[in-house]
Amino acid sequence: MGTKKLFYSLSSPSTNFLIVGDDRYFLLTVANGVPIFVPDRCPHRGGPLHLGKFVEDGRKIKCPWHRYCWRKESIERKFLPVIVNRQCLTLAIPKNGNKEMKIKEIHKAFML
Ligand code: FES
Repeated sequence: MGTKKLFYSLSSPSTNFLIVGDDRYFLLTVANGVPIFVPDRCPHRGGPLHLGKFVEDGRKIKCPWHRYCWRKESIERKFLPVIVNRQCLTLAIPKNGNKEMKIKEIHKAFML
């Protein structure tokens, strides 16, 4: 049985950060016009990857907490599926049980 999803349409094209319940997602890149939102938790100990830096010609992301580097493509694999319908972008966000999840959209400056 797969993970339940919450379908959420972004209200603004400038949104690049989402807070969903206890989880955070940031816009890592845009591929073929499709935004790639990924979890903002470093695989090591949950550091804020959106505050990291691209290194090795953009192939890796250096976490700001312990400075481990992660391949960008391994982070990209955790992307939120997105449905593009004209100007509307709808993200499929993993749902944590039946709990109601508050979603907050943010536009913020990244260090990446
Ligand atoms: S939390 Fe990212 S390197 Fe430790």
